[in-house]
Amino acid sequence: MPKPVKKNTKRISELLKISEKLNHIKDIDSLLDNILLEARKFTRADAGSIFLADGDKLKFSYVQNDSIAKIDEGNNKYIYSIFDIPIDDKSIAGYVALTGDPLLIEDVYQLNGGVSYSFNPYFDEISCYRTKSMLTVPLVTSQQNIIGVIQIINAKDKKGEVTSFSNDQMMYVSFLANNASVAIERAKMTREIVLRMIKMTELRDPRETGNHVNRVGSYSIEIYEKWAKNKKIPLEEIKKVKDTFRIAAMLHDVGKVAISDMILKKPGKLTEEEFEIMKKHTIFGAQLFENPVSDWDALSAEIAISHHEKWDGSGYMGRVDNIYREEIAPQIGKKGEEIPIAGRIVALADVYDALISKRVYKEPWKEEEVLKYIGEQSGKHFDPDVVKAFFSIYDVIRAIREKYAEK
Ligand SMILES: [Fe+2]
Ligand SMILES: [Fe+2]
Repeated sequence: MPKPVKKNTKRISELLKISEKLNHIKDIDSLLDNILLEARKFTRADAGSIFLADGDKLKFSYVQNDSIAKIDEGNNKYIYSIFDIPIDDKSIAGYVALTGDPLLIEDVYQLNGGVSYSFNPYFDEISCYRTKSMLTVPLVTSQQNIIGVIQIINAKDKKGEVTSFSNDQMMYVSFLANNASVAIERAKMTREIVLRMIKMTELRDPRETGNHVNRVGSYSIEIYEKWAKNKKIPLEEIKKVKDTFRIAAMLHDVGKVAISDMILKKPGKLTEEEFEIMKKHTIFGAQLFENPVSDWDALSAEIAISHHEKWDGSGYMGRVDNIYREEIAPQIGKKGEEIPIAGRIVALADVYDALISKRVYKEPWKEEEVLKYIGEQSGKHFDPDVVKAFFSIYDVIRAIREKYAEK
């Protein structure tokens, strides 16, 4: 039968192309987003989630749902849901992670008698969704470690009706999952290295905690996505920027490693002279990413040097022609769109988080006070379009705050 063979070859080469693409993605969340999207495209599935193993638990790590996205524009908040599932035979995802066997289910509400697992309708209930057919496959590395599961939901036929997944589809998604596992492990390693760079900053300046930078990273990409959609920037471009933006935003203050303890840890207000030195953390940050070898380096440098600029021109560092010159003459801050968009976004994300969080030297502001302040600073400290995007996804911002709350 020559026809199916030809079809298979085409599909496998498509899968290899996808795997190749996945291998270039650095940010773990962006990678999960892409893997899920590709697996769903392959099966025309309406929704899906990825769970990553963490000890004896599965952490709900990523979700996509087209039907909900259509009704609720701010559906990104589900991405930031937090819940764990034990790796055991009681749940569908737990069972697959435990045994390493994929599961193909026709209707999750009508499971065969005699199986140990059951379907948890929690997500359906909170989102008014009806899960029916489901395909769950393990993410297995080349060393045969199960690092998580990918679960796709509600396959659709050509007319858009919900149908069952086929054995063929199970095979293809398993193939994709195996290849994706390598990329996931690599992206996790990148994230770890970045977190260690941040840990170094944190050791120097206890105000820059891992949770603070995680929040700033997530706020920034969500604000960017909304802002970019408002500006009608093509989706492909948005996706590409989001991949590097989170990590780059997380590193906004990494230049503080080069500021002396006397200034960094000084209780109380800095003198004018000390503040001038403190300002230079922006430049030291940019120096760390000199000679960019990737988009990520370039964006990190841009954010480091511009995250204290203000829309009305009253911020710093302004136009610096040589970031290595010892003496940097007082600069006039950059103004308006002269400040790169990434800097304008991180400025808001960073200030919002600083005000609303408790820090060693201050109590948190009340939420309504923070929002009032941000509204007032629109057009002064902040870009009005960025403020607008921030307010229109505020439920997502809140979900991020909960996910990365200080313990
Ligand atoms: Fe800073
Ligand atoms: Fe910060």
